[in-house]
Amino acid sequence: MFDVTKPIYSGTEAIGILGSVLKSSKTLSRTQSFYSLLPKTVKLRQGSLQSVLDVCSKTLESLANPSIEVSPSAITDKLLMELDDQVADGLGDIYDSVFSDCETIEKVKKGIRRIIKDVEAVRVSPARKSCRGNKGPTLLVSYPKICTDPKRIIHWNSGVIKWTNWTEIVCNSLYNFFSQSFAVPPGIALDLPNKIIVQILEEKSESIDLETCKEIEKIFSRLKAGFVSRDQDKEIMISERIEGEHLFDFAQSKYPALSQSQKESLFINLAKIAVLDLIFGNLDRFARVEFNAKEEKYALSELEANLGNAMVKWNHGSKQDLQVFSIDNGIDHIDMPLRQQKYITFLQGLFESPDFPETIAQNMVSNFVNALNNQVDDYDGNVHEIKKKLEMFSTEITSIGKAAFQRGIREAIAQLPASISKWDDSEGDHLRDYLRKHSPQVLEIIQKRIQGFASIKTKTQVDG
Ligand SMILES: Nc1ncnc2c1ncn2[C@@H]1O[C@H](COP(=O)(O)OP(=O)(O)OP(=O)(O)O)[C@@H](O)[C@H]1O
Ligand SMILES: [Mg+2]
Repeated sequence: MFDVTKPIYSGTEAIGILGSVLKSSKTLSRTQSFYSLLPKTVKLRQGSLQSVLDVCSKTLESLANPSIEVSPSAITDKLLMELDDQVADGLGDIYDSVFSDCETIEKVKKGIRRIIKDVEAVRVSPARKSCRGNKGPTLLVSYPKICTDPKRIIHWNSGVIKWTNWTEIVCNSLYNFFSQSFAVPPGIALDLPNKIIVQILEEKSESIDLETCKEIEKIFSRLKAGFVSRDQDKEIMISERIEGEHLFDFAQSKYPALSQSQKESLFINLAKIAVLDLIFGNLDRFARVEFNAKEEKYALSELEANLGNAMVKWNHGSKQDLQVFSIDNGIDHIDMPLRQQKYITFLQGLFESPDFPETIAQNMVSNFVNALNNQVDDYDGNVHEIKKKLEMFSTEITSIGKAAFQRGIREAIAQLPASISKWDDSEGDHLRDYLRKHSPQVLEIIQKRIQGFASIKTKTQVDG
């Protein structure tokens, strides 16, 4: 059991907002354990929470009576037993450490106030597994910060915790470096074996002591244990929560309210992500690439776009520009050396062909349409209604999207030589060093793919 009253990590300003998610991860772990003991239906859950509040206020009332002389430990033992008996077995254990060294009545009261505050936090699940991704787990978290506010106003921590690998962590920096107009959410990664916290987009790190590492490891594995997970993804990444929606949700909710030029700007941005995906070798986002074993070569393939791997932030009705985020940025390593070469051959063939903007745009359109048609069934809710809400996006992906995709592809290709020379010269030193340190394999693969691409003269460049 952890000492819940002490922040896990004192952190520095540099780690900023995400540091506070880390610092108060004990709160997250405790409230999530509390939530998992509660009934799943809202009504029963509210009933249980009311019982917790009743037990707490009854105890507080008894403490207000100065005539009663009882030891703090007797009071807390009784309180914990009542939580177990009257609410849920195991709840007392969760709060055991809160009262572990309560020698005074004041400290007992403080512990009870913490339980009362936690009740507010667990009205909904403090960590929700994202329903899009099938990797991770990717947890969307929202829970109260450690309270330092004398007025006891609850401040909320929010963020995204994902169990992933170093390929994704370093690729976030890579996409951010090459991005022309979309954004990548800032984040931190915990490199516990090397006892450092890495600031992802700044490519900086700071050390943490062994004790803190061990505690972080315990807290996060307890948190992860409550969710289905893939064992191979072990690295912990905490990202800033984007106040927006992934593309599938955005297409149903806010897309119809966009102006024509906002729609075009959205599609142009998505195409710019797709160009980087192709060059870096991220084969399964918007443009889809597969190895054709019969012909022994890579080719664009009409499959489903992954609409969960881009997010859009836009306030309904706002004239403000919408902001597109590229998330879940990884690359396919392609393990066999011969195949790695074949990928570069594919890249060169694709971008040397004069009609590549149209070819890629058409592939994207087909993959978007397939995704919209097939993924509706994965959604809770009325399929007919969702289809109706998606109608405008579905139609306009061809009537507006296709031309805008082509424009985005052209623009991306025209700007790429400048980004590549930035990457090759001293401006790219820092990022290349960072990749070398955390994932030399990704650096080696990316260098080859970028060089492979840079060695060709695309039709757009020749024309330009
Ligand atoms: N920074 C963020 N802010 C807000 N929501 C996010 C953020 N990152 C991820 N999400 C939400 O979680 C979902 C899954 O995230 P992500 O694609 O990174 O995880 P995944 O489990 O690896 O998915 P996949 O199966 O596509 O690999 C996203 O579609 C999005 O809805
Ligand atoms: Mg994803």
